[in-house]
Amino acid sequence: MYDAARRMIRHWLGRPAVALAAAFPNPLTIAWMRAICWIQLTTAELVAVTGAIRACPRCRLLVFGVGNDSPYWLAVNRDGTTLFLEHDLPWREAVAAEIGADPILTVAYGSRLDEWPEMIDQPSRLSMNLPPAVRDARWDVIVVDAPPGRQPSHPGRMQSIYESSRLVSPTGHVFVHDCHRPAERAYTDRFLGNRMTLVSDSRLRHYQSPTMPRLPGVPS
Ligand SMILES: C[S@@+](CC[C@H](N)C(=O)[O-])C[C@H]1O[C@@H](n2cnc3c(N)ncnc32)[C@H](O)[C@@H]1O
Repeated sequence: MYDAARRMIRHWLGRPAVALAAAFPNPLTIAWMRAICWIQLTTAELVAVTGAIRACPRCRLLVFGVGNDSPYWLAVNRDGTTLFLEHDLPWREAVAAEIGADPILTVAYGSRLDEWPEMIDQPSRLSMNLPPAVRDARWDVIVVDAPPGRQPSHPGRMQSIYESSRLVSPTGHVFVHDCHRPAERAYTDRFLGNRMTLVSDSRLRHYQSPTMPRLPGVPS
């Protein structure tokens, strides 16, 4: 009964809530939208990423993973370019029914979370086969909230964090979620540097490119 009511509220109010939050992004509108749309990122985290997007005219936004937040990222970055990278095909289809298939590109990960300690010293295993539309661009804002990395058999975020360090523009921002976990901490420390801000009271690390170490062979 409770679930049915929540689904009904989302069905009727989801689109207006996203439109309102995207038109007037502030903690109040974003908190309301988040509750209605069942978004996992916290309000403070959504506000932090929104600030980076809005600070960048015609922002090029790259998001690892689609989710209940995807309609909002497209709406708040309506004057820019937004692409999502997703490996889970059924989940991709579910979200594509809501936002269309065009902004979602399918990717594959070749890792398991329990391999993270050895993979960190094997850059050739961290590199991903990315579509030219992703590889050939430099991204102003990158959000890493995928792939899943809770269980040993999950892919883990080793490759998405590594690639974010290669894809971000020289003046861009990278946000990595779930940095309370050892793999996310180790890979962000190694590939994105140690000068970052933690979005208040959250698991989201925020990096800005000029503070990142340049890796050998990485275009700047
Ligand atoms: C952590 S979720 C993204 C959450 C989103 N940023 C939010 O705040 O709501 C990202 C990954 O979870 C995986 N996933 C699979 N099924 C899912 C589901 N039913 N809901 C959410 N994520 C799912 C997908 O592979 C996806 O790339």
